[in-house]
Amino acid sequence: MAMDSLAPAGPRPGPVLQRLMARGAAFLGSRVALMGGAMSWVSERHLVAALSNAGAFGTIACGAMEPDRLAEEIAGTQALTDRPFGVNLITMHPRLQPLVETCLAAKVSHIVFAGGIPPGAAIRAAKEGGAKVVCFAPALALAKKLVRSGADALVIEGSEAGGHIGPVSLNVLAQEILPVLAAEVPIFVAGGIGRGEAILSYLEMGAAGVQLGTRFVCAAESIAHPRFKQAFLRGAARDAVPTVQLDERFPVIPVRALQNEGTKRFMEHQAAVLERFQSGVVTKEAAQLEIEHFWAGALRRAVIEGDVEQGSLMAGQSVGMVTAIQPAAEIIAELLAQAEAALARRQGAGAAG
Ligand SMILES: Cc1cc2nc3c(=O)[nH]c(=O)nc-3n(C[C@H](O)[C@H](O)[C@H](O)COP(=O)(O)O)c2cc1C
Repeated sequence: MAMDSLAPAGPRPGPVLQRLMARGAAFLGSRVALMGGAMSWVSERHLVAALSNAGAFGTIACGAMEPDRLAEEIAGTQALTDRPFGVNLITMHPRLQPLVETCLAAKVSHIVFAGGIPPGAAIRAAKEGGAKVVCFAPALALAKKLVRSGADALVIEGSEAGGHIGPVSLNVLAQEILPVLAAEVPIFVAGGIGRGEAILSYLEMGAAGVQLGTRFVCAAESIAHPRFKQAFLRGAARDAVPTVQLDERFPVIPVRALQNEGTKRFMEHQAAVLERFQSGVVTKEAAQLEIEHFWAGALRRAVIEGDVEQGSLMAGQSVGMVTAIQPAAEIIAELLAQAEAALARRQGAGAAG
């Protein structure tokens, strides 16, 4: 009774699922080995606390926040939950070290480094300060390097995911990385996961847990603008496509998002910049900057202001499985029920055979 009153409210996995999730859940300090992937502007205190309070593990997206602003967001989240949650830091942030210190001062239990290989000093500072370190690994060789550098756990994210993506699908990354490294560190898999059957399969392949982003955008607790949520409710898998690069001399980092006016205009913008470069009006560096600048502030415009025409509608291919606005706890319960039903079907098939 005393133990139970300390446990989070919300859905519970059955014994088999609990066993499959045990390592990931112990690492996260949650009941369910399910991370809410950090989503800039979306993953703030309300969604993060709702996920952690429901027994999963929320992650604040630091994005471009400065240390003071991050400290506020952490304190705001701590006021809404006493369960563990993480903070996701983008490694290119010019103030990465002060951001790590901000997390440590606030006693954040898990720091997730995203967007590139984190400097060794940042990993060491986080660990010496008592936080667990989670890193994104885009390939097996880098995954091994990150484990050697001290990563306590890894996220492997396939190209099905929403936001900035690598070139390889989770299907392939999981086969390449899990058999080699799952025994060494807990590995959480991300990208394209929208149902419990898929969660079960990845756990059986050796994943310690999963990370979902797109599926939580339409959580009732998510502060995303109603028009942003509507776009997700309407979107199908084939609408969530990576940004297209027009010319190989001007690289564009692929971002998976729902197509809209903005994505069309981006093609025209690249063509216009290219023409001005070719006619000598702008230098190569200036042209590259103009191309990169196009999307500045675009995710905020879509998520916060609801500009779904010109803003960036970052979304993964699992967007087609987002069909209703539901409390986070209900989404998690649904995912667990789907995994349980798949287990039951297998046990039934085993008994019949
Ligand atoms: C709107 C949006 C914003 C995102 N922003 C970030 C971010 O700031 N940092 C990050 O590491 N990942 C970011 N992601 C990726 C998620 O954390 C997560 O790994 C991904 O959504 C998982 O794939 P799924 O969308 O198929 O569930 C973002 C994803 C979305 C959909």
